[in-house]
Amino acid sequence: MEMSAIAALAPVIPVLTIERQADAVPLARALVRGGLRVLEITLRTGGALEALRAIASEVPDAVVGAGTVLNARQLDQARQAGARFVVSPGCTPALATAASASGLALLPGVQTVSEAMALVERGFTLLKFFPAETAGGLDWLKAVAAPLAGLRFCPTGGIGPGNAASYLSLANVACVGGSWVAPKDAVAAEDWPQIERLAAAAATLKRP
Ligand code: 3PG
Repeated sequence: MEMSAIAALAPVIPVLTIERQADAVPLARALVRGGLRVLEITLRTGGALEALRAIASEVPDAVVGAGTVLNARQLDQARQAGARFVVSPGCTPALATAASASGLALLPGVQTVSEAMALVERGFTLLKFFPAETAGGLDWLKAVAAPLAGLRFCPTGGIGPGNAASYLSLANVACVGGSWVAPKDAVAAEDWPQIERLAAAAATLKRP
């Protein structure tokens, strides 16, 4: 599945950093019940690949990917664990080459116009804009819409219920990413109904 088709499945991609293995499947189920099917598991915890593997096999309605993928080795580990896509905070030529060779969808991160242009040259049309709020936020996306026509973004970093709708109203925003739909304290308390409610609210956000 191409990254643009995955991004079309939901307006928000939850960014999940899973500390306890046992949380992975119930957390994914709560988000999917709420209407968010595309899930990014960051490779920042020891059990991240195991969590990804469990979700891939036990939550068939989820389209699960790996986040914080920094190199070809991690991309391969994610693919073997069942990832349908990978997300990187920035990008290197080696990572882009590895993604093309593996056939796995990559959502590569950019923060500048030159970085975006380099990825357009490699055939990418959907990029993660990271860290969105720090790197210029809505103004940056509006400013690049004309010069980078045809390119779309998944802004991530600093996005929440207060600004997600504004990002999603932009024509060059395909979807947004964020951790707000799975707050740490709700996960720690195994408050899956709260997470389902947050997901349901996020899932109703409109795109142009
Ligand atoms: C991340 O890498 O943690 C994501 O950018 C999520 O950022 P957020 O916690 O600001 O949503």
